[in-house]
Amino acid sequence: MAKIIAIANQKGGVGKTTSAISLSSSLAHFNRRVLLLDMDPQGNSSRGVGTDVSVISRSIYDALLKGVDINKVIRKTPMKNLELIPANLKLAGTEAELNSTNGEPYFLLKNALINLKKDYDYIIIDCPPSLGLLSLNALVASHSVLIPVQCEYFAMEAVAQILATISRIQTNYNSELMIEGFLLTMYDPRTRLGTEISTQVRGLFKENTFITQIPRNISLPEASARGIPITLYRPTSSGSLAYLSLAKEVLDHET
Ligand SMILES: Nc1ncnc2c1ncn2[C@@H]1O[C@H](COP(=O)(O)OP(=O)(O)O)[C@@H](O)[C@H]1O
Ligand SMILES: [Mg+2]
Repeated sequence: MAKIIAIANQKGGVGKTTSAISLSSSLAHFNRRVLLLDMDPQGNSSRGVGTDVSVISRSIYDALLKGVDINKVIRKTPMKNLELIPANLKLAGTEAELNSTNGEPYFLLKNALINLKKDYDYIIIDCPPSLGLLSLNALVASHSVLIPVQCEYFAMEAVAQILATISRIQTNYNSELMIEGFLLTMYDPRTRLGTEISTQVRGLFKENTFITQIPRNISLPEASARGIPITLYRPTSSGSLAYLSLAKEVLDHET
């Protein structure tokens, strides 16, 4: 059975999408079969693996709310081991629609994923920058959550908020939900803030913080803009090497 990991933090611009794409492609690089699931209406992780979300006819929206078979929404990417369930703007403004579905609005994604026919080793979910129903659906459906923390002001406030949400989900909907780890992103050891946040996170969540820190690296936004995962675009860049090392840590959690 696939291990399902949500990449979540309600703060925007902290590296969720970049981490979702790059961790997915790194796991695929290590021969794992990976499904990248885009839950953000902005569709950036879909674009990041080469899908033009403005022209697709089916997306996660159709599987969640229109009764379309989730297997028919899966698409290929530039990597053999990596497949995609895309999202686009249709998913925006669906909170009311999600709430008014028959049954339980928190379980739509979990129930859809049960119908996946193909076996994957990992399903990586890119969450939107809010803790609304889309992110909650992702957390309910996941085995664990990876929390990117940008080494910036107010990083710790965001962490406190997401931890409160995780504990609410654990109590009410998904008692199995684990923390895969905190991931320090856009880390710059030359700035005091960078080292301060890193020290704080490691002080508070020692066991749960990945040893790997993701450096600032221009190849990462470039790869996203070209729709090619970093492991293919610039395999030896510092960004690529960091995400490969993150993937090794995630693989170590298997045992
Ligand atoms: N390690 C990095 N180095 C340089 N730029 C990065 C890095 N990680 C993310 N970015 C850029 O920062 C912006 C926000 O990152 P993104 O992954 O989209 O965050 P989120 O999904 O949390 O909003 C994007 O333009 C992205 O390309
Ligand atoms: Mg994003």
